[in-house]
Amino acid sequence: MDRLVADICRWFDLYVEAFLGHGPYVEANIRCKQVHCHRAALMVRLGRQLGLEVGLIPVARLAGLLHDVGRFEQFASYRTFMDAHSINHGRLGVEVLRRYGVLSRLDRHASHTILTAVRYHNWPPDTHRPIRTGLPYHPYGQGL
Ligand SMILES: [Fe+2]
Repeated sequence: MDRLVADICRWFDLYVEAFLGHGPYVEANIRCKQVHCHRAALMVRLGRQLGLEVGLIPVARLAGLLHDVGRFEQFASYRTFMDAHSINHGRLGVEVLRRYGVLSRLDRHASHTILTAVRYHNWPPDTHRPIRTGLPYHPYGQGL
C-alpha cells in the first residue's frame, strides 16, 4: 500500500504541474492549493492519534491529498475557487480521479471511501437548498 500511496502522490504533483506556466497569479493560486492538499494529507496524524484503524490510515491520507483535486481545473477554467461562480469542485474532483484512473489499483472499498470524501467534503454546497434534515441551509450556519 505504501508504494501505491507514493505513486498517487507522484501522480498528484505531476497533475498539478500541468496547470503552471500561465503567469504568477495562476501559479500562486495553484501552488497554494497544492500545499493545502499536502497539508490535508498530513492531517492523517490526527487519525492515528484518534485510533483510526491502521488499514484506513493510507485511505485517509489519500482522501486528504485528493480532496481538492478538482480545484486545479476549476481555477484553470474559471480563475476562481468560488463554486457558486464556477463549478462544484468536489464533483469535478471525482470526475478528474475517474478520468485518469487514479484510484484504479485500490480495492473497491478504499476507492469508494476516497471518492465519497472528495465528492462531499464541500457539502453542503454554497447554495440555499435545504439539507436532508429539512432545516433551511444557511451558508454561515446562523440560525441552525
Ligand atoms: Fe475543497
